[in-house]
Amino acid sequence: MKVSIATLFPELYRPFLQESLIGRAQEKGVFQAEVTDLFSFAEPKKRIDAPSFGPGAGMLLKPEIIARAITSQEHKFGPSYKIFFSPHGKRLNQFHTKRIAHIFQEKKHVMLLPARYEGMDARVEEHYADEIISVGDYVLMGGDIPAMVLLEAILRYLPGIIGKDESVEKDSFSGPLVDYPEYTEPLEWEGMTVPEIIRSGNHQKIADWRENEALKRTLLGGHFEWFRSFDHDKVMVKKAQSIIPPHYVALMHDEVNLKDGRVGTSSVTSLDIHDIARSAATYGLKKYFLVTPLLDQQRIVETLLGFWQTTGKTYNFERHQAVQAVKIVDSLDKAMAQIEVDTGKKPLLIATSAKEHEACEKITYGDQSQIWKEGCPVLLLLGTASGLSDAVLKRCDYILPPLKGLSDFNHLSVRSAAAIIFDRWLGLNLHRS
Ligand SMILES: C[S@@+](CC[C@H](N)C(=O)[O-])C[C@H]1O[C@@H](n2cnc3c(N)ncnc32)[C@H](O)[C@@H]1O
Repeated sequence: MKVSIATLFPELYRPFLQESLIGRAQEKGVFQAEVTDLFSFAEPKKRIDAPSFGPGAGMLLKPEIIARAITSQEHKFGPSYKIFFSPHGKRLNQFHTKRIAHIFQEKKHVMLLPARYEGMDARVEEHYADEIISVGDYVLMGGDIPAMVLLEAILRYLPGIIGKDESVEKDSFSGPLVDYPEYTEPLEWEGMTVPEIIRSGNHQKIADWRENEALKRTLLGGHFEWFRSFDHDKVMVKKAQSIIPPHYVALMHDEVNLKDGRVGTSSVTSLDIHDIARSAATYGLKKYFLVTPLLDQQRIVETLLGFWQTTGKTYNFERHQAVQAVKIVDSLDKAMAQIEVDTGKKPLLIATSAKEHEACEKITYGDQSQIWKEGCPVLLLLGTASGLSDAVLKRCDYILPPLKGLSDFNHLSVRSAAAIIFDRWLGLNLHRS
């Protein structure tokens, strides 16, 4: 298989292609790279670049230079699969590298076309590109390092390059997990000892330990987004639940802002009780606290729940299961105390609101790992009426951003907001970007 690289900086590739596994792979004939200098396709005394049309100072590679490079390489090695590099391309991940590795194996000739300056004339990409790749949401000075990144990632999949096929199949991102921690000699280093279990010789125990450590690194090390993009079986869901701290929710009918500007209480509603209970059960929350100091309101909730906790159990078991997690408490402190009894730890309080607030540290729906690493149970607070009072917000450790869509309307019901918040924070979300 031939890889043609058409670049303004051929020298950058010489050591890269000669050294290490890539050099050896070429020696073994797994693939052959040919680096061509784009300047060799410029007419004598003519520039290779030209200013971009419209305001802005950038220079672009002239389309005819790229066209000549492609024609010349295809004349030598036959039709090619053409890969361009740009921040606006598809962001590279392990799925794409595996897919492109298959393409490398199928095609006899692949061309890599890294740009420089402000990039390629858009028509060139439109006309030629089979694939445009980005190596991340940042801008480099040129596409040569991205081209090398792609080669490094893809060549690992080709037979005869990496020693043991196993090491590729078990790598980070080959499935939902990142790699487990590994250790070598010496046994003791800087006061840290290699974990005993991996020296035990018990293969089953080592495999279990490695999977658990990999799962911890994935969930607590900032890769929940990757983990949740997979479809998981019940066993994996259970294992993940055992690593993520327990989550709780409290619906505040006390200490909320009222329409007239005072802070006070609000009335419970049957729909909120049932629907939030069902959402909480769906997303694995442990308990759903209904916070109201008013005895008549507590009685109403007891009556509403009573049916589902007794006779309703045979009528609709799932509903029974969901409402079992509902607990009536007369204050936020009582809910927190209950969590401390359950888990032995004080919960972290995470506020939610339809408005921006400065009262506590702002986090986003991408910050789960940061919170989970603290190792405390998490209590999500939902407000009723016109939202949580300032006094409650000041007690919170963190606040999540208001939910927003592509409109100006900002009047979600609390039960709808609850479902969205649970889903954004804890939901599995099968997708391949
Ligand atoms: C200075 S960059 C051009 C950036 C371009 N004006 C933009 O804002 O998207 C020059 C070239 O470097 C390469 N490059 C820079 N960042 C990249 C990235 N994140 N992924 C892939 N290629 C990149 C591309 O080939 C790009 O055309």
